[in-house]
Amino acid sequence: MQNIDSFTHVRGESLYLDDLPIVNGTLYACVFGSPVAHGRIRSLDLADARNLPGVVRILTARDIPGENQIGGIIPDEVLLADQTVDFWGMPIALVVAETDEIARRAATLIRADIDPLPVVTDPREACALGQLIVPPRTFQTGDAEAAFADCDYIFEGRADSGGQEHLYLETQGAYAIPLENGNIRLFSSTQGPTAVQRAVARVLGLGMHKIEIDVTRLGGGFGGKEDGANLWAALVALATHCLRRPVKYVLHRMEDLRMTGKRHPYTSDFKIGLTKDLKIRAYTASLYQDAGASADLSPAVLERSLFHANNTYFIPNLRVTAYSCRTNLPSNTAFRGFGGPQGMFVIEAAIAKAAEELGVSALDIQRANLLREGDAFHYGQVADGCEAEACWTDAATRYDLPELQREVDEFNRQNKLKKKGLAVMPICFGISFTKKWMNQARALVHLYADGSVGVSTGAVEMGQGVNTKMVQVAARCLSVRPERIKIEPTNTTRIANTSPTAASATSDLNGKALQLACQALTERLLGVARARLQAEEVSIRNEVVWVGNKPSDLGWNDLILEAYQQRVCLSEHAHYATPGIHYDPTVEKGHPFAYHVYGTALVGTTVDCLRGTYTVDYVRVTHDFGQSMNTIVDRGQAEGAIVQGIGWMTMEDLRYNADGRLLSNALSTYKIPDIYSVPPVLDIHFLETAGSDYAIFRSKAVGEPPLMYGIGAYFALRNAVRAFNPSSNLPFDAPMTPEKVLLSLYADALVP
Ligand code: MTE
Ligand code: MOS
Repeated sequence: MQNIDSFTHVRGESLYLDDLPIVNGTLYACVFGSPVAHGRIRSLDLADARNLPGVVRILTARDIPGENQIGGIIPDEVLLADQTVDFWGMPIALVVAETDEIARRAATLIRADIDPLPVVTDPREACALGQLIVPPRTFQTGDAEAAFADCDYIFEGRADSGGQEHLYLETQGAYAIPLENGNIRLFSSTQGPTAVQRAVARVLGLGMHKIEIDVTRLGGGFGGKEDGANLWAALVALATHCLRRPVKYVLHRMEDLRMTGKRHPYTSDFKIGLTKDLKIRAYTASLYQDAGASADLSPAVLERSLFHANNTYFIPNLRVTAYSCRTNLPSNTAFRGFGGPQGMFVIEAAIAKAAEELGVSALDIQRANLLREGDAFHYGQVADGCEAEACWTDAATRYDLPELQREVDEFNRQNKLKKKGLAVMPICFGISFTKKWMNQARALVHLYADGSVGVSTGAVEMGQGVNTKMVQVAARCLSVRPERIKIEPTNTTRIANTSPTAASATSDLNGKALQLACQALTERLLGVARARLQAEEVSIRNEVVWVGNKPSDLGWNDLILEAYQQRVCLSEHAHYATPGIHYDPTVEKGHPFAYHVYGTALVGTTVDCLRGTYTVDYVRVTHDFGQSMNTIVDRGQAEGAIVQGIGWMTMEDLRYNADGRLLSNALSTYKIPDIYSVPPVLDIHFLETAGSDYAIFRSKAVGEPPLMYGIGAYFALRNAVRAFNPSSNLPFDAPMTPEKVLLSLYADALVP
C-alpha cells in the first residue's frame, strides 16, 4: 500500500503546524537567547524592546505561574533563564508582539548584562571537573580484566564521533489557543504530545486535563522533537496563559540550529583483546557523552549506548562505563539510533584497530564473532531469533563479497591517485523503550453508523509512514477497504498518556493496541451477525459476512446499521503493554527488548587522493524486516536512514568555538547529504525472517536500525585512505570529512 500522504505531499496540500489557519487576534512570539554560553545574569534591559510599537508583552522567568522547569528525566532544565545562562542561545525572555517581524526585531533590542563564567565544551574536561548529569553506569559480563591475561593480542585506542543536527524540514514550533475557563488548546510539532502536555501543565501550574495537545503531522522529527518540542510549546502556552490570546512561534532555521540540542557527540577509550583465532575475548571501554547543558534525554541515550556497545558480536568478557558530561552547549537529545550508533562506532573502531595492527581484514574479525542463537548479550538477554549470521551470509553471497574485495584490490593495484575501500557493517538493534513503563499504547476506534471508520492512536506521523501502517492494521483486522478508514490527528484528549513516537516501536505498540480494539469490535459485530443470520460460524471477509465458506447477503454497511439500531457499542478504546520485558538497573541485567533487528551492509567508496574528495559508490544491504507490512514504506525508511547515517559519519560537521558559539549555524557551513551524495547503488534486500510475536503482524520495527549501516561508510573511507597511506596511527575521528581524508592521506608526510 502506497503511503497515504503521498498525494497531499506531492500537491503541497499536507498540513503542518505553520499551515494551520490563523485564529483572529493571534500574537507572535520570539525568544531572546543568551549571547554567551555561560554566565550569571546581572540585569536585563527590556526598555527599548518594550517601546517598539506592536510589542504586547515581554515575559521572563518571573511571569511563570507554575514551576520554571521542563526537565523530563531530571528537573535540571528551566524554561526561561533566571540566575544563570548555561549555553549560547538559552532562552532568557520571550517577546510577544502583533506580528512575527515586530517580535523578532524587538528581541534584538533586548540587552543583557551577564558576568561570564568558564565555558566547557569538551566532555572529557567536564568529566574531569566532576560535571556529570547522572552517576556513571557500567554494563559488564564475565571478567574483562582477567580475560585480557588470556588474550594473544591486545589493542587500545580512542574513538570520537561527532554530533548531528536533526535538520527536520519543518523547524520547531507551537501554536496555543486560549479556551474558556483557562483551558488551552495547543498545536505542537512534537513527537511526544503527552510530554508537551505535562511540561505545559507544570509550567502553568495547571492540571494536565486543562491542556489539549493536537498534532496532525511533523515535517520530520528524527528524535529532535521527542523532548525537544516541550520548550517551544511551553513558551507559547505561557504567553497565551498570561495574555489570554492565541500565540504562535515557529522558529527560523538559524534560531533552530542555534538553540536546539543535537545528536550527542561521544569521545571514547577502548581496549580489545583477541585470541589467535580472532575471537574477541575481552573488551573494555569508557564512553564520554557530551550531554550539553541539561539532562533532557541524555541518561536514556547513554543507556542505549551501553546496550549496543557490543553491536552484533558475542563478547564473553565485557565492561563498558559511560559518563554523561554536562557542558555549555544546547542540551543534546534523541537522534535516530538514540545512542546506539555512538556505542557501535567504538566497537567497530576497536575491531578496525585490531585488524590494522594484525594485518588482517576487519571482515575476518567481524565474521568470527557474530552473535549466534542462544548467545547472551552482556545485559543478560539471550539472542532469540538471531539473524546476524543469516544476514551476513546472505549479503556476502548475494552481492559476491569476495568479488567486491577483489575489485577493490585490483583497482588499488592499478591506480595511484584514486583508491577504493570496502567495509562490511553488520548491525543489531534492540526494539523497545528501555524504560519498561513506556512500552504501552492505546487506540480508539469509532465505527460510524454509515460504515466508515475513525481511528485515533498515540502515534505521530512524521514522514515514517506510521499512519499508513495504522490504516493497514485497521483494514486487515476489520476486513474493510482502506478508503473507509480515517486516521485522526494525534490528540491528548482522544488518547491520553501517550509514549512519544520514538524507539522505532510506534507501529508495534500502537498497531497492537489498534488490533485489540478492532478485534473487540469485530467480536461484537459477529454477535449481531450470528443473531441476524441464525448461524454459528460467521466471519467478515472483505466487507461481507460469510457463513462457513459461503458469502451471505449481509454486507458491512447493513451489519453496522443493524448493530447500531440494536444499540451495540460501535466504539472501542484498547490498551496494549508489551509483555515479557523487564530490566533491573541495580544489576544491569534483564530482558529489556521485545526483539532485535539484524542486518548487514557492504559499503564501497572511492577516494580522490589528490583532493581528499570521495564518493560512496554503493551500499548493498541484507536487512531483517521480519514479515514486512509495507515494503514501500520500509524501503523508504531504510534508504533515508542509510543516507542520514552516511551524513553523520562522513560530512555533517558540527562546530562550536571555545566560547560555545555554534559556528556551523547555517546550511552554508553545515553540509548534509543531498541527492548527489546518495550512493548511486543502494540495494536493499528484504530478508524475510519469522519476525516476532511482539511486532505488529510479525513485521519488524524499521525506523532507526538502518541508520547504523552508515558507519560502514566511515570504515570504507578509512580503508581507501589506508590503501594510499598505510599509516598505523590514523585517529578514529568521525565525521570523515574531505578535509580529514586529505589530512589522513598525507598524515605521516606532514608530521616532521
Ligand atoms: N522517518 C521520517 N521520514 N521522519 C522522521 O522524523 N524519525 C525516525 C524514524 N524515521 C523519522 C523517520 C526516528 S528517530 C524514529 S524513532 C522512528 O522513525 C519513529 O517512528 P516509528 O516508531 O514509527 O518507526
Ligand atoms: Mo527516535 S531517536 O527514537 O525519535
